[in-house]
Amino acid sequence: MKVLVLGASGFIGFPAAQALCRAGHVVYGQTRSPEKAKRLAAEEILPIVCSPSSTDWHHLIPTFDVIIEALGGTTINAHSFKVLFNSVTEAVKTLRPPGSPKLSWIYTSGTWVHGTNGGELISDTTPFNSSGSDSVELAKWRPECEQEVIKSEVLNGIVVRPSLLYGRSGSIISLMFDRLRKTGKVTWPGKPKSGGGLQGGRLSLIHQDDLGDFYVRAAEKAPLIGGLSFDVSNDITESLDCFLQRMVEIAGVQGPYEYTEPQNLFEFAVSTEHLVRPYLARSVLGWQPRKLGLIDGLDLYWKAYLASVE
Ligand SMILES: *[C@@H]1O[C@H](CO)[C@@H](O)[C@H](O)[C@H]1NC(C)=O
Repeated sequence: MKVLVLGASGFIGFPAAQALCRAGHVVYGQTRSPEKAKRLAAEEILPIVCSPSSTDWHHLIPTFDVIIEALGGTTINAHSFKVLFNSVTEAVKTLRPPGSPKLSWIYTSGTWVHGTNGGELISDTTPFNSSGSDSVELAKWRPECEQEVIKSEVLNGIVVRPSLLYGRSGSIISLMFDRLRKTGKVTWPGKPKSGGGLQGGRLSLIHQDDLGDFYVRAAEKAPLIGGLSFDVSNDITESLDCFLQRMVEIAGVQGPYEYTEPQNLFEFAVSTEHLVRPYLARSVLGWQPRKLGLIDGLDLYWKAYLASVE
């Protein structure tokens, strides 16, 4: 297969592109940065240096089997997503010969679209109300984009919703690692549920390599799974308090961990609890997470983070 990863140097895109390469596919990776393009080339990923919305790469559209959009919430929003998706849709109509197999588009959303669901378990197919009172502000624009992708008549649309990411440089978990490095304190945005103590809720998590493996399986089975949305998360949620306590022990810091008032929409989203228990990736793609959980592997993940920032 020929696969294009949009956002190929990112926390999600890079391990996905590596995993696709190792599975024997020809992988193109879009990045804006010439420096990061070198890192892609060194991994046998064919770099395309431009903005994702550029038409510079459209001449390759007739050759691709799958496009994976892994641009991340800070580089894309509802408007820029629509512009991108519409321009690729138009290019597909004019550039691919009539009767061609549908080009697959895997859209990376996130489990935050589910909202906090009142502490109930959430699966891939649990209905959610994106304007409901328990919705997560930062993710409110995503359900509309998900719908556009899975209802497309031109592209074969698939949605993937990772939960909180961990591994290597840390992604969302690095929010806590960064603060620990700067202040010597273990903190997390949010509040203990009531009365303090061990009641800070649960975390739904996924390692970037397990997510990478999901993209390989989804890309290879893409013609069979069009129209589906997959939650990608470990089978078991982890205790936020156990995670923070373990961090205090590993880093050898003084004093207990603390919760801090969320300062922005991102921290608010991180402070919400989602009990994600997916089944579709397992039943349809035979996927299962393999990496050590966040708490079991925390020493390793903390050291990987430190090595990545030094
Ligand atoms: C979704 O949430 C909004 C805002 O709380 C509410 O007005 C609406 O009735 C809800 N829709 C459904 C179908 O529950």
